[in-house]
Amino acid sequence: MKLWGGRFTAEEDQLTAMFNDSLSFDKRLYRQDITGSIAHAEMLGKQKIISSEDAAAIVDGLKGILSDIDAGKLEIKDAEDIHSFVEAELTARIGEAGKRLHTGRSRNDQVALDMKLYTRDHIDQMIAVVTELHDTIEAIMKDNLETYMPGFTHLQKAQPTTLAHHFGAYREMLRRDLSRLVDTRTRLNECPLGAGAFAGTTYPLDRDMTAKALGFDEATVNSMDSVSDRDYLIEYLSDLSMLQMHLSRLSEEIILWNSNEYQFVKISDAYSTGSSIMPQKKNPDIAELIRGKCGRVYGALMSLLTSMKGIPLAYNKDMQEDKELSFDAMDTVEHSVILMNGMLKTMTFNKERMADSAKRGFTNATDVADYLVRKGVPFRTAHGLVGELVLLCEKKGCALDDLSLDEFRSVCDKIDEDIYKAISLETCVKTRKTKGAPGWLIENADEIF
Ligand code: ARG
Repeated sequence: MKLWGGRFTAEEDQLTAMFNDSLSFDKRLYRQDITGSIAHAEMLGKQKIISSEDAAAIVDGLKGILSDIDAGKLEIKDAEDIHSFVEAELTARIGEAGKRLHTGRSRNDQVALDMKLYTRDHIDQMIAVVTELHDTIEAIMKDNLETYMPGFTHLQKAQPTTLAHHFGAYREMLRRDLSRLVDTRTRLNECPLGAGAFAGTTYPLDRDMTAKALGFDEATVNSMDSVSDRDYLIEYLSDLSMLQMHLSRLSEEIILWNSNEYQFVKISDAYSTGSSIMPQKKNPDIAELIRGKCGRVYGALMSLLTSMKGIPLAYNKDMQEDKELSFDAMDTVEHSVILMNGMLKTMTFNKERMADSAKRGFTNATDVADYLVRKGVPFRTAHGLVGELVLLCEKKGCALDDLSLDEFRSVCDKIDEDIYKAISLETCVKTRKTKGAPGWLIENADEIF
């Protein structure tokens, strides 16, 4: 029978049950549900709302259920949701005392608590895996402070930079992602347990005790909001969307760099798959999937925002819709981060190819103009003169560095022998010393890492 079967007479319709029941997906909340119930039972005992013997029997019973589920000895099934399952199992194990657990509590504050605990645990897990990815990126940066490569704008070669500088941009994105995760965790850390259905309860609950026992900073201050707030989930899904977007951008670069045309990197076999028809193919599927899965993560965010927008206070069953999509987004982003980390750790960088590419495509054209500025030519004039030099190179099919001094002078007689050093790849990178630039990174690496 359902927890609430007392006032019902007709058999439940099959489709109604299927549509309503949440056990198939909320069973993953079992640890949080039992942990919350243990804190609740201990508080009920301390406040003498139930006897200390009953409280002890409940806590023991709950611990047994938890360890049996963990050990694979107890299968979670045959209940409407995880809350009903745990209560029924407890009562089957310890008898009457089990029926006292739900005193002063509703499934509304119970599920609000479970989801907050689950989200908080998941944020901690994400902070750990994102930190690992951040550290892998830092290691790549340290190894590649002077690995030259072209930087792009509009996907066209623009100016030379280093691989460390390029990865440094992703390090910054991840640093912001990490600080968003910490912020969300801080804001969610108020305990809804004790809000009851929405109006609190007449029992003398000690809400501060349960809040503390469960690692919250404090108990929530409005019991209606406590059971109907899902802001923290929306905020977390937004953090996850942003993080997945960053992973997707990095995936896109890896896919390009791994292509036959670029050949800047080689993805390890462990993160590639083959083609069923073309024997030569090794495809960057994992990077493509990380990019593609952005859709479902953003979808979860939009879906929950939309589900929440018309819900009057307080609890309504619409809120059960928070779970499947949030769990899916959490799994997706966590796995994406772990896979990205593994892919980066095993990826090889073709440094010669990158440097070679930086030398072609006139990435030092700005530096020729800057050289002329140092010789007294106004920048706008210099820009035009270098344009002529580029045209000359295109006609000859060579790089700026390959022009003879006479050819340089045919366009501007202020150019001397020192032009070659001034526009070498090394000079172009190392003299970009403004804060945040690749030359600055080389000089300040010791302080940054
Ligand atoms: N499965 C429900 C959910 O996820 C639990 C709360 C049920 N509360 C209720 N009043 N029916 O939201």
